[in-house]
Amino acid sequence: MNEVKRIGVLTSGGDAPGMNAAVRAVVRTAIANGIECVGIRRGWQGLINSDFVKLTSISVGHILSRGGTILFTARSDDFMTESGRQKAVATCKMLGLNAIVAIGGDGTFRGALELSRLGIPVVGIPATIDNDVGCTNYTIGFDTACNTAIECIDKLRDTMQSHERCSVVEVMGRNAGFLALYVGIAVGATAVLVPEHEVDFQRDVVERIQDSRLAGNTHFMIVVAEGAGSAVEIGKKLHEAIGIEPRVTVLGHLQRGGSPTGRDRETATRMGYYAVKALAEGRGNRIIATQEGGIVEIPIEEALQRTKKLQMDRYVIMETMQIGGIR
Ligand code: F6P
Repeated sequence: MNEVKRIGVLTSGGDAPGMNAAVRAVVRTAIANGIECVGIRRGWQGLINSDFVKLTSISVGHILSRGGTILFTARSDDFMTESGRQKAVATCKMLGLNAIVAIGGDGTFRGALELSRLGIPVVGIPATIDNDVGCTNYTIGFDTACNTAIECIDKLRDTMQSHERCSVVEVMGRNAGFLALYVGIAVGATAVLVPEHEVDFQRDVVERIQDSRLAGNTHFMIVVAEGAGSAVEIGKKLHEAIGIEPRVTVLGHLQRGGSPTGRDRETATRMGYYAVKALAEGRGNRIIATQEGGIVEIPIEEALQRTKKLQMDRYVIMETMQIGGIR
């Protein structure tokens, strides 16, 4: 890899709390290593459109605690095409960018791989509230999203308890149940539905509520991962099955906002630091990942082939906590 003198940094895909902390770390580590940094706005589409802003140490001040991304984000159809990617390469040449740091999820990294094949070195930083990137234990934004969902559900519980109702809450996560299961354990859900575990409505929902009622509970909390089904449909089915009238809440994009937690700020800062260190030391085409608490680098191609399973022991723990007890 040629010596790196100027890099671009972008955020792509769904935003995640902590992306700003990662941008800040990239910029400041770059400056510390004598590398200039250009912010590419609106993800891969911004690279195609030459949509950029020069970043300095000062310009990334006071963003550590801010949710969202100051660089904006987008999902780009143009970047899926060869001609779109050629335009992105042209932007890199025009701006004198020797490499790109791309902050996002698997979709972002697939784009990174394509760009790297056209000769632009890329380093990826995993950031998505879904935590569904196979090569890393942890993705920036997951902790904040979990805490936001937990706070919302705690509030819901107050009113469900008062009215002795059943709540069905849908959380995000795309095709993965990491967010739902973590949140479900933390709020003491009566049942948690995740895409990784085939749902038997009678066994996994109806009988759970019946058992909970027999144990003395008069309110129930069902957490549904969006990938496991619609909370509205589950609410209707529950009404048909046991006659109760559940209240349905879809937490939606609320879960993606908010000031990042300490874990997200700290992880994002470390990942941003190591992403630039890799480039400064001549290593491109890597994803920065966490494994057993430490930071590792994985070649992009290999990283994209890795898969991560939902920890089913956590599912068993969630179920165990409901046995014969109240919450
Ligand atoms: O990948 C993050 C995520 O928030 C998913 O949990 C969700 O399915 C999706 O993005 C929603 O995307 P959009 O912002 O396009 O509605």
